[in-house]
Amino acid sequence: MKLPERYHRHEQAYVKHELLSGYLEVLLMIIGQWAKEIVYIDCFAGPWCDDSDDIEGTSIARSIAIMQKARDSLASAGKYVTMRALYIERDDDAYTRLQNYLATKRTAVETQCLKGDFVELRDQILQWAGSRAFAFFFVDPKGYRDVALPHLRPLLERPQSEFLINFMYSFVNMANSDKNRQAFSKYLLELFGEIPVVDGLSPVEREDRLLSLYTDRVKDGVGPDARATAVKVLDPTKDRTKYHLVYLTRNPLGIIKFMEQSERCAIVQERVRLDAKLRAKEERTGTGDLFADDDGDDSVSTMAATDFQQPLREHWLGWVSTVPKAFTKEDFASMIETTGAYPSQIQMALGSLISEGRIQNLDSRGKRRKNFVHFSKNERLVLFQ
Ligand SMILES: C[S@@+](CC[C@H](N)C(=O)[O-])C[C@H]1O[C@@H](n2cnc3c(N)ncnc32)[C@H](O)[C@@H]1O
Repeated sequence: MKLPERYHRHEQAYVKHELLSGYLEVLLMIIGQWAKEIVYIDCFAGPWCDDSDDIEGTSIARSIAIMQKARDSLASAGKYVTMRALYIERDDDAYTRLQNYLATKRTAVETQCLKGDFVELRDQILQWAGSRAFAFFFVDPKGYRDVALPHLRPLLERPQSEFLINFMYSFVNMANSDKNRQAFSKYLLELFGEIPVVDGLSPVEREDRLLSLYTDRVKDGVGPDARATAVKVLDPTKDRTKYHLVYLTRNPLGIIKFMEQSERCAIVQERVRLDAKLRAKEERTGTGDLFADDDGDDSVSTMAATDFQQPLREHWLGWVSTVPKAFTKEDFASMIETTGAYPSQIQMALGSLISEGRIQNLDSRGKRRKNFVHFSKNERLVLFQ
């Protein structure tokens, strides 16, 4: 995989766009099986960090391309789905570019843009979406203030909607530091509903705490059926979180599909970061040797895939019982939500327990190497004593 040149110095944007496009395509193909109309709303559209005329390195161009592709695939299978896209932008220059791009873009996706502040445009956005279409909202501002619940609530309450929200962790963490907390208390209160207490927590624990406080708060806005998960986007050259992409839905299958895409994206992220580190090193030292002058300044590390296995095995042992139980998509989604693990990691942990003879899948014939339980078939699992 080679990082397109337009994304050099914007590696995180590439990871974000890969996840957005990957998941959007899966979503459109699933929802398109039954929906007559699907709408995509980019609440903070840009263009941003791409000076080219084709703006291919932006969520604007990428979302249109994916909608067009899904529309064509669905149509070739006899499903004719109306796809509409709305782009909101406040900045004068960016809006002019957006408008010009949409005016000249030839696509069967019905596109529109609105100029102004997202918060002031919420009613118009909801009106444009209508009440019948399935809607996907992408909320990707520059900072963290705009993603607070009071700003998002009217959208979150809309039925038949999903959300991908950029939670700018690096800024939030800075605002919640001992030095800044007092000055930013108004925004922190809006964001979390409280001033987070993080005394004595390690950096990893603090990150988990702030993310789960935020996630719980926006889930409240969606309502009792809300489900959420998040993906970490790291700084390209340091092992530090830049932001989390928080995914919100009312559909358990959404959680599973989103995390499958996130897993694919984790590999993309790894490669892109290696590439970025090499380029940074080349610029600094004139050599492409990654370890030439290692400054060892990485602070927060990510959890290795193998570290997850023990907690996941315990999770499974807590879930099964000596009475056979069907494993449903709701169970799978809940396990992903509580553990933050990828679907394949959860399957792997189950696989190891099955091979040790501690759990049996009553509906599985023959040996499996992956997908040790099919949630779509509600296969039954039982604990051996
Ligand atoms: C991070 S950029 C968007 C990047 C874009 N989603 C992408 O991935 O290519 C955020 C954009 O939102 C615009 N913006 C900032 N505050 C806004 C607001 N309150 N209402 C509407 N647009 C806003 C900025 O001008 C900027 O173009």
